Amino acid sequence: MNWQTRVTELLNIRYPIIQGGLAYLAYSELAAAVSNAGGLGQITAMSLSSPELLRQEIQKIRKLTDKPFGVNFAIGQQNRPFSEFLEVAIDEGVPVISMTGGNPAPILERLAGTSIKKLVLVAARRQAIKAEKLGADAVMVVGQEGGGHLGKDDIGTIVLIPQVADSVSIPVIASGGIGDGRGLMAALSLGAEGIEMGTRFIAVKECIHAHEIYKQALIEGQETDTVVIKRSIGAPARAIASRWTDKILEIEKNNGGYEELKNFISGAANKRYIYDGAVEDGFAWAGQVMGLIKDVPSAGELIQRIVQEAEVIRTKWGQ
Ligand SMILES: Cc1cc2nc3c(=O)[nH]c(=O)nc-3n(C[C@H](O)[C@H](O)[C@H](O)COP(=O)(O)O)c2cc1C
Repeated sequence: MNWQTRVTELLNIRYPIIQGGLAYLAYSELAAAVSNAGGLGQITAMSLSSPELLRQEIQKIRKLTDKPFGVNFAIGQQNRPFSEFLEVAIDEGVPVISMTGGNPAPILERLAGTSIKKLVLVAARRQAIKAEKLGADAVMVVGQEGGGHLGKDDIGTIVLIPQVADSVSIPVIASGGIGDGRGLMAALSLGAEGIEMGTRFIAVKECIHAHEIYKQALIEGQETDTVVIKRSIGAPARAIASRWTDKILEIEKNNGGYEELKNFISGAANKRYIYDGAVEDGFAWAGQVMGLIKDVPSAGELIQRIVQEAEVIRTKWGQ
């Protein structure tokens, strides 16, 4: 079946399926596997410790795929300036750059006039309208079911997507809570022209940096097994519920503030769980969609499965 939408045309991909930025997890192996399977894979720039390492990662993905890929910038959450990383991505002529977590204006201004496609991940209608005005080519819109950092308004994907689709004229990509062909078809029904998945792409073979314990937790976990942490410091984000996140929520309840929280929510604590499987000594991001994850296929198998499930629904609906 034909899966052409404005998103597939914009990104020059076969299926309207995008792998979200995944801090400390999305490197060239995963991104290339997604792109080779007809979706858009992404490397997460700010997980790399220097602009030179980003250059190497971009050169590596070019050896693994000749398909389009993206480089993701989570700005605002890092204390490091992103501009040198951005210059490397521009210099390497990457096909797509996505951004989130802060004011996208400086990146969009820098990219204006280049052939690089600009995706902005937002979590609210007003942010989508702003991104369009600033020159985004498409918006990815994440509902509150999603894994990792979220909007502050707690609006679920099913309400947010049609609102945004009615408010902007650039293509909308739905994100948050999507993990199978039903989710893809739901997103298209809501007015999106593509989907972005984060949590589902962790439980795939090519996400080689994620510890088996993390993948197993995604398989065993139910939709009720996540919590939103960091709300008290204005940066709500969804993680797998654990004794570690209980401690975080306890500090937040007692108005602990950033100083008391910082060791519990640090990148180091995140890496201890996701790289070492130290579930008692760190935390891992995940969305409610973990309730739907039952296995660890390859990225290609996953994408084919999603497309086939969606095609069954399309056939049932009469195309
Ligand atoms: C482990 C993890 C790390 C993430 N890191 C980033 C990131 O660095 N940049 C980004 O734009 N989004 C990041 N996200 C958000 C995802 O790209 C995506 O928007 C979100 O996971 C969608 O919801 P889902 O998990 O229900 O698919 C992250 C999500 C997870 C689960």
